[in-house]
Amino acid sequence: MTAPRVLLTGAAGYIGSHTWLALLEAGFRVIGLDDFSNSSPEVLNRLQTLSGTAPEFVRADVRDAMALNAVFSAEPIDAVVHFAAFKAVGESTAKPLAYYANNIGGLLALTEAMQRHACKTLVFSSSATVYGNPEQLPIREDAPLSATNPYGSTKLMGEDILRDLQRADPQWAMALLRYFNPVGAHQSGLIGEDPRGIPNNLLPFVTQVAVGRRPHLQVFGNDYNTPDGTGVRDYIHVLDLAAGHAAALYYLLDQRRPITANLGTGSGHSVLEVVRAFELASGRPVPVQFAPRRPGDIAASYADATLAHQLLGWRTTHDLAAMCADSWRWQRQNPNGLAG
Ligand code: UFG
Repeated sequence: MTAPRVLLTGAAGYIGSHTWLALLEAGFRVIGLDDFSNSSPEVLNRLQTLSGTAPEFVRADVRDAMALNAVFSAEPIDAVVHFAAFKAVGESTAKPLAYYANNIGGLLALTEAMQRHACKTLVFSSSATVYGNPEQLPIREDAPLSATNPYGSTKLMGEDILRDLQRADPQWAMALLRYFNPVGAHQSGLIGEDPRGIPNNLLPFVTQVAVGRRPHLQVFGNDYNTPDGTGVRDYIHVLDLAAGHAAALYYLLDQRRPITANLGTGSGHSVLEVVRAFELASGRPVPVQFAPRRPGDIAASYADATLAHQLLGWRTTHDLAAMCADSWRWQRQNPNGLAG
């Protein structure tokens, strides 16, 4: 049997690039698609170094129906993993139309192309943001869903669109994967998270403080109802997340049943715990300043990760120390990201 051929959208991004490598290592044939709107072409060189083969790649916006048609017409595609989307919560409140146009428009263009070409196996990049402000911890997949910002709305709507499609045509096999907080980088230090401008997320900010690009970390809130008062999140190594996508693809291609699953470790860490773990891993001080709560933030969020384990046979293998060590190696080797 020939290896399944998988299209990755948003393939040059942080999670996309790590998943690309994981799928190649698992024996899939991969074709990547990206418009580099939030990534760098240098990722392709890095992937070539890591995999030993030239990556098969198409530069296009996922909303470009003609480009998608050309990809699906060139050679049959067995499954799609859809990452391509905007993902900054704050930016989404300032530019809601751009978020709906890209995230919803992209999903519609993609699923229409898939339907036209009878490719009905899809892994969708969803987010723990669909749980809004969770009532119960750890969060199970059957918890109530809500959105508190336009980015979150696009993920929730994306899930709704796919659930409707699945109901209308049960031939679709879909995995809706709800990521918690992806951090870390490939152990080679060749690929990792490369945010443009001032990082929104905790780990990229911490690594930039440690490398001397920024003077200190602002800790947003130390009066939450958590053990040390700072926000608690379920940080998951991007390599574990990538492996979760390979497991989901095996499941869909084999079982042809829809699945909605959390991808998290099942444990939470506070901002101050992350800072201490990072200082230990890097040997560098990370000065902090306490600041008011960030609007829209919640106190705590961590996954009940049992469903993905039961159905996919997947579980995380990297702890917080490994996440910090790998983020640090990536930052040290690429102090100015891929552009530098
Ligand atoms: N934090 C700081 N200082 C910073 C950045 C973050 O103290 O400079 C704190 C936050 O207040 C929060 C924790 O670090 O307590 C994690 O914040 P992130 O911004 O890294 O992550 P969030 O949990 O807020 O957001 C992430 C994704 C979103 C997604 C959300 C919910 O970035 O895309 O999880 O799933 F919507």
